[in-house]
Amino acid sequence: MCGITGYIGTDDTGSIVHQGLENLEYRGYDSAGIAIAGESLTIQKTEGEVGELSVPTHADGMVGIGHTRWSTHGEPTAPNAHPHTDCTESVAVVHNGIIENYEALKAELRDRHTFTSDTDTEVIPHLIETHLEDGVSLVTAVQRATRRLEGSYAIAVTAADHDGIVVAREDSPLLIGHGEAATYVGSDATAFIDHTNRVTYLKTGDIARLTDDDVTVYNDGARVQRDTQTLEWDADAAGKSGYNHYMLKEIHEQPRALRQAISGRINDFETGVDLDIDLTAEYLRAVEEIQIVACGTSYHAGLYAKELLETAADVRVTVTIASEYEFSGGRDPQETLVVAITQSGETADTLSALRDAIRSGARTLAVTNTLGSTVTREADETVFIRAGPEIGVAATKTFVSQVATVTLLAAHLGEARNVLSTQATRDLLAGVQELPGAVQQILDQEPTIKEAARTHADSEAFFYMGRQAGYPVALESALKLKEISYDHAEGFAAGELKHGPLALVTPDTPVVAVLTAESAAEKTLNNVKEVKARGAPVIGVTSDPSHTSSVDQMFDIPECGPLEPVVANVALQLFAYYVADEKDRPIDKPRNLAKSVTVE
Ligand code: G6P
Repeated sequence: MCGITGYIGTDDTGSIVHQGLENLEYRGYDSAGIAIAGESLTIQKTEGEVGELSVPTHADGMVGIGHTRWSTHGEPTAPNAHPHTDCTESVAVVHNGIIENYEALKAELRDRHTFTSDTDTEVIPHLIETHLEDGVSLVTAVQRATRRLEGSYAIAVTAADHDGIVVAREDSPLLIGHGEAATYVGSDATAFIDHTNRVTYLKTGDIARLTDDDVTVYNDGARVQRDTQTLEWDADAAGKSGYNHYMLKEIHEQPRALRQAISGRINDFETGVDLDIDLTAEYLRAVEEIQIVACGTSYHAGLYAKELLETAADVRVTVTIASEYEFSGGRDPQETLVVAITQSGETADTLSALRDAIRSGARTLAVTNTLGSTVTREADETVFIRAGPEIGVAATKTFVSQVATVTLLAAHLGEARNVLSTQATRDLLAGVQELPGAVQQILDQEPTIKEAARTHADSEAFFYMGRQAGYPVALESALKLKEISYDHAEGFAAGELKHGPLALVTPDTPVVAVLTAESAAEKTLNNVKEVKARGAPVIGVTSDPSHTSSVDQMFDIPECGPLEPVVANVALQLFAYYVADEKDRPIDKPRNLAKSVTVE
């Protein structure tokens, strides 16, 4: 989950690579570095954020690569920051992923090579150095070096006196941007989207040589053609638009993101949903079980999806944290649909679970935000959530867009399986169409929510409880608060209160109760009484004004049936944001976390 950027062209290489790193910082931000190649290499590194890395100004080259790091092997120090170089300091490499056999390679190379970092990456420039000594081109040296690597990688390599960048990928994502007399490389398009939206996604096993006006791609030693496509994202969509943080901007973008998720997909209330997936009604009728795999916020969207799918499509649904998934016995792959929910499409644990499902012979469907991501290439079918770029590490708009998209999926399955009556489909789809407006009503209550957050910001810990679809929302809201405020926050199924969390409830631990429709609010009100008896202040999130007297504070939610809890989540995103803001936390880049986790 580090970020790679690179540029070759005649403009100011140092500034372009530095800007690329700033754009990518959400992927990792504990150290960073840049290499500019001309007659010699100029390398700058820093322990800390990209802002602490000065823009290289004295470099004479037109070729640059950069890296922003989220440490896996070795502490976040300047020596461990990328780029890493060979003994002669004329080959520079930036790398995402993990080289699994690096210790064996290091032991082999140590006699003739000096290592200066604790990273797995450093073996790569030394391997390339070994092959360059045979007088081969840089691209050939990279080809030979990568044959020795086991694990996953996306690398960008440049060298003094060589007029290009060589890139290679094995599992970790990497794409090329095509500009006017300029070529870019990035671990995702945000690296260079300010300059071009014409991109080529590399496939696993690809090695490419980039010059300012040409890209040559090889796979397995042979030249191959890769398509160029135009991305719809533009640079403005990835800016902060006047908000203090990307997270707040993205919270406010939710009505628009939801409209995009729905747009063109609801044919009309009679004919249902068009998700452009190739799963026939016959196949969907035969499905016995849907297995959802996901991590983090996407896992919470998966739990929400279970509520919707089981009700609308009368199908057994299991939701598994991707790192715990195994396609297990007693399941017939022909009758099991595996759904991977992943915003980035690159989360290693989710991809690993998906591959396990593919090996078992099950059909697979990806629900993702990211065009061209690995999950889209490996799953049989893909549904895009169309939320647009999300930069804040804490996922917000992608969660609501995931829920809206799986609601459409639930309606689609319900119809195909002859479970949902026309009226029920109509109601579900009407609910999705009301979502953007309902979320806007929450955003209009921002001052009230901000005030409540300020009141409680110094609390010792926070608890969130809910039932049914209110349960994933409790989990997600607690995750949001802990990620960005660093306060302890725990979400749980309200029924579990008495089985543990109640021991920690005091007057200094606010309890948030999701009391929306379709979340068994009447039962949760009993739990509210139990925490109030221990003196805890209670915030209720509800559309039912009759609950006012039961809680200390209310966040009002408009009525929208099974989707009410996801609307409640928006109020709790704002609550988390303002608690963290009150504490002056680095909201978009919480410590130790990264937007996309591409290691298992
Ligand atoms: C990281 C991010 C989370 C995200 C999770 C899963 O932990 O910080 O916001 O929910 O990865 O990511 P995915 O891209 O698979 O949804």
